[in-house]
Formats: sequence, structure tokens, C-alpha cells
Amino acid sequence: MSAPKHLISWKDWTDSEIEELLNFAIYVKNNRVYFFGHMAGRSMAMLFQKTSTRTRVSFEAGMTELGGHAIFLDWMSSNFSLSDIDFEAAYLSRNVSIIMARLKKHEDLLTLKEGSQVPVINGCCNLFHPCQALADILTIANDRPNDWKKTKICYIGVHNNVVNSLIGITAALGIHLTLVTPIAHEESIVKEVVKRGQAKKTLTWETDLKIAVKDADYIYTDTWVDMEFFNDPEFQKEKEERIRLMMPYQVNQELLKHTKAKVMHDMPIHAGYEITREVVSSERSIIFTQAENRLDAQKAVILNLLDSHK
Ligand code: CP
Repeated sequence: MSAPKHLISWKDWTDSEIEELLNFAIYVKNNRVYFFGHMAGRSMAMLFQKTSTRTRVSFEAGMTELGGHAIFLDWMSSNFSLSDIDFEAAYLSRNVSIIMARLKKHEDLLTLKEGSQVPVINGCCNLFHPCQALADILTIANDRPNDWKKTKICYIGVHNNVVNSLIGITAALGIHLTLVTPIAHEESIVKEVVKRGQAKKTLTWETDLKIAVKDADYIYTDTWVDMEFFNDPEFQKEKEERIRLMMPYQVNQELLKHTKAKVMHDMPIHAGYEITREVVSSERSIIFTQAENRLDAQKAVILNLLDSHK
């Protein structure tokens, strides 16, 4: 048996591998019934150290649609919280065909990968959210099937894990990404990924919001505060400061007057902060289609990884 291929971040994947995976995700989406049964008799372990709605539901529903089974493991109520991550992962891979993990620290995910003998999918860590980025580009490719490669995305928000994955995937596919990120802490930026975007000339930064959105085809925003800190009393001061700094960058009807762009958000939404409720429900919003596309994007990831692990 060959060493398993994993999806930890796009930096481990070549441009052609990423494009092949995207094309496969498009095929999976358009031929949903065809793949029923491809995971029959096989299980996926889904390990969560953080909260989730979409990642849990879409992976679990995806495994059901493929005829397989998904096992939910909560970090705190499993023995991951007591033992060594690599030993627990080694055990898991004696029982399941694939592991998806949402862990707080990227280093812990790498340890889990080292211990596993089956493919590991990153379900979002502090540095990357690759499945989200694949679903985002699948959404654009479906929205503009004839010229999706020529699209321009403008991300407005805090530089975070979603941004790192967007930089990686857009660089690989030649899609232009403009970042309006007034808050960009050094520990959140993955330099290797930024270099890929710069080398491919797909990545630019802009400070003037109106200039940034003018020619954009898609405006993309995300929460200003990571989910695990949102209700953390120790993070409240930082949260208030972020809201003060970011409020002028809210995606609202006034901003949409300056662009024809459609609106994306990876969810969960904090209405009244990074985006208004009005915009979420407007005709410009493709947010719920984007969220739905997690299902097919991840089915493609599962099938791709298992196909290369025989
Ligand atoms: N976008 C996303 O990963 O959603 P959840 O945090 O609800 O899984």
C-alpha cells in the first residue's frame, strides 16, 4: 500500500493536482447519483476540537451520499484529550478509511497526519481551511462556467485561515485575488503561500475599499473574530478593538453601490458586523449556494484521496 495522500493545505498540492480536483468536484456536483455507493462499507472519522455546523453536516451527509458512514468524535469526550495524538490517530486508521479533523493548532494536525496510515483532511485549523476554499471556487466555476478563470475576487476582512487557503487555491488556478485586510497579524500569515500568490501574480493588496471592489466579480467576507474566541471573556477587549477597526469595512448596501460584484461569505455569519442581514438576503448574495457546495467539494476530496491510496 502506498503512503496516503492528505489534504492539509494547498501548499502540498501542485497547480495541476488542484485543477484536476476542482474539475472532478464539478463532475461530482453534476453527477451526484453516479457516486452513490463508492464508499460502501467504509467509514470516516470526524474529529472536532472546535464547534461546527457546515463542516460536520456536509462531511456526514457527503459520506451518506457516497454510501459510507461517518463517525463523529468530540475531542473532549474522546481520549484524544488524554493521550498522544499520533497514537490515537494510528488507532483510528486501523478502523476507518479516512480521517477529517478540525483542530485548533496546525502543529497538532501535522502530528495526527504523522500517526495516521489513512488520508487526513484538514477541516479547518488556525492556518488553513482548504475544503472551504475548494467549495468557494466550485461555486464560482458553477456561477460562471465559461470564464471562471478570469474572475476577480476581493476579500474584505481580517487575514485568517480562509485567506491563506484562498491565496493558495487562486494562485494555483490563476484567479485574481485582492485582499483588503486592515488586520493581518504576522502569526496568521503563511509566507510560503503568499509567495506562491506573488510568483503567479494572482495576489494584490488594496487599502481603498471603493477601488478594491470596483472591478471585482465577487466580494468575499468572513468573521472578524475566530469562532473559538467569539464568546471568550478574555478576548472581549480585542473583539471590541477589532469591531472598531473593521466597521468601516462592513459589506453593506452602501458598498454594493460601488460594484456589480456578487457576495460570498463562508459562514457562520455575524450579521451587523462584517456583513448586514440585508446583504445576506439580497439578490447579490450567493452565500447559501457557496455553503451548499461544501458537500460536493468534499465528496470530491474524499474520492480523490482514497483513489490515490490503494
Ligand atoms: N465555514 C465553516 O467551516 O462552517 P462551520 O464552522 O459551521 O463548519
